[in-house]
Amino acid sequence: MTGTIAIPLQVTGEGPVLPGRLRRADPCIVVIFGANGDLSHRKLIPALFQLAIDGAIPDDFAIIGVDRDALDDATFKAGMRSAAAGVAAGSSGRDEIWARFEARLSYLHGNLDDTATYAALQQRLVAVDATLKQVDGHLFHLALPPSLYGPVIQHLSASGVLPRTVEASQRPWSRVIIEKPFGHDLGSARALNAVARAAMGEHQIFRIDHYLGKETVQNMLVLRFANSIFEPIWNRHHIHHVQITAAEDLGVEHRGVYYEEAGVVRDMFQNHLLQLLTLTAMEPPTAFRADAVRDEKVKVLHAIRPIASEDMHVSAVRGQYGAGMIGGAPVSGYREEPHVSPESNTPTYAAIRFMVDNWRWQGVPFFLRSGKRMPARSTEIAIEFRRPPHLMFPIGQGQSFETNVLVIRIQPSEGVALCFEVKMPGVDMRMASVNMDFDYHDAFGASTHDAYETLLLDCMTGEATLFTRSDEAEAAWETLDPLLAHWESSMPQHFPNYAAGSWGPAVADELIARVGARWRRPAGT
Ligand code: BG6
Repeated sequence: MTGTIAIPLQVTGEGPVLPGRLRRADPCIVVIFGANGDLSHRKLIPALFQLAIDGAIPDDFAIIGVDRDALDDATFKAGMRSAAAGVAAGSSGRDEIWARFEARLSYLHGNLDDTATYAALQQRLVAVDATLKQVDGHLFHLALPPSLYGPVIQHLSASGVLPRTVEASQRPWSRVIIEKPFGHDLGSARALNAVARAAMGEHQIFRIDHYLGKETVQNMLVLRFANSIFEPIWNRHHIHHVQITAAEDLGVEHRGVYYEEAGVVRDMFQNHLLQLLTLTAMEPPTAFRADAVRDEKVKVLHAIRPIASEDMHVSAVRGQYGAGMIGGAPVSGYREEPHVSPESNTPTYAAIRFMVDNWRWQGVPFFLRSGKRMPARSTEIAIEFRRPPHLMFPIGQGQSFETNVLVIRIQPSEGVALCFEVKMPGVDMRMASVNMDFDYHDAFGASTHDAYETLLLDCMTGEATLFTRSDEAEAAWETLDPLLAHWESSMPQHFPNYAAGSWGPAVADELIARVGARWRRPAGT
């Protein structure tokens, strides 16, 4: 039997403000390349406007949108107005803040492979700088197809628009945000790093992984390192295995072209899931500072045991969704999606067992899984503890015994739950599993906060802790390259092998059953 105990929770204090939080952006100019594109409409402009509403954007601030579409300023502004229409809609003072925000927008039309575009951008920056009292820096956001990252960085550098700075503290600063995917494999990630490092210092490069901007992902750091009760048991002596799940009910939508090239391992594992693994497994950093945190994450990536070719089949399984039902409605299979080959062998699901070869984690498997078209959207990290060494209570017929589990829920609802055994009331000695559940929403109220708000503000204040360093990006590819190469050289035989709306292929159950475990049904699904 299982149940949930509602804990009457009181938030007893706010605690110290972490350095770098509750701050304002530096006076700066943000240049968005790909300003008329999807990311800019869906995420960047809404996030920047929300920051303006929150009072985190200073008066000395401007945005220059750059794209190849021939728009004038008025049309560009109208597009951005509708992109931000849902932000704080109806709240008092919102329209005045938008009017001030919109006045700071301008548009530059140009081809990104044409040096004239960068000369024009340089002139525009000088002109906009002159309208502001103070400008501490320029932030260039590459919201572009990945093939353009390298060429645009080279142009920015060659034109002098992006000067190399020697130190992070130098003013004015120049920073570049690079979106994912960062490379297609280890070789291309190294090549992109080489281009970026030839143009600027590491402190100028902000490789974004939006998972690191999620509240509960950051809470993992607080949970582990601001409490003393978890660390003593956070190791191989007490933990049997770890399950990290990122399930999505959506399919590939309109992104067939990209997804055919990427597949689930590049799309979700190389970045988001490995980030969750490193935050779970890393040693306590000495300070909440970019390099201290990133050093520890890189050590974990380097400690991941390479998957030997003879172990591929017991360490990793792949899947692709066929037609099925989601939320009671029929949906098509991956091979029927727009821009997807009817013979596609691209995996839309993977489950991979990683071993971390260090003192703390020796022998503890980390099972990571992610898939499209699963029954629900749910991301969580589950720490499954060992069974008690000796169980003195009889387990009656039809009863099961659950081991303790600590679940860190990342989405859709955010929170932390601990599952443990209790005695059921009554004269018999019978056990039941219950959940002690902390829910962010119940404790702190609804948050409409988007990961991009945190991450963009970090870029505008020079806070790099939540961004992937060059060695980290390469180490993540190094971990996955052998598996990608193996899968790409041996075609799957049974695709599609799971129905849309199911929890993935049956072989994934066998993968985890080898350690005597089974996949959890994520909370709330
Ligand atoms: C993106 C992937 O990085 O993350 C998408 O490209 C995926 O395929 C998305 O759907 C998931 O993000 P979230 O925040 O919805 O979990």
